Amino acid sequence: MFQIDDFSFNTKKEFYDNIICNAKGLMYEERDKIANLANISALLFYTMEKINWVGFYLYKNDELVLGPFQGKPACIRIKIGKGVCGTAAKSRKTQIVPDVHEFQGHIPCDGDTNSEIVIPIVVDNKLIGVLDIDSPITNRFDVTDSEYLNKLVSLITDSCDWNE
Ligand code: SME
Repeated sequence: MFQIDDFSFNTKKEFYDNIICNAKGLMYEERDKIANLANISALLFYTMEKINWVGFYLYKNDELVLGPFQGKPACIRIKIGKGVCGTAAKSRKTQIVPDVHEFQGHIPCDGDTNSEIVIPIVVDNKLIGVLDIDSPITNRFDVTDSEYLNKLVSLITDSCDWNE
């Protein structure tokens, strides 16, 4: 049984080191992408402070399609280049959005969201999708979040089979 109650740490680094350790454990000897993405979204949703949505969009037929997530029901399809997710997918660069209301073309899914971070997922130079995390707090995400969430995404890309 997974214990969620001991995730309070003094620094983001300690928090994310623990997240990465737990993510390794959850994906140990399991390479099914849907199973692993579902468990990682639950791990993040129940441990990260001040967030209201965590999930994956997967690249399919030239658009992003909603994948495993935790939070309120969300928009299903996002065009490449549209919204924060589509921008991360197109540029293949992490998007840190301190205030979504200032981001032109932001796609609102949960009205509680005020800031957002989106990390592109790329394997062998091919776009796989994005990891999207929303917060009700303005300016919730910084470069440390970006650094460690990119490490987490690298772990995920190494841990799953993407050709199935
Ligand atoms: N806000 C995102 C859409 C996805 S939801 O936040 C879950 C965007 O602008 O791409």
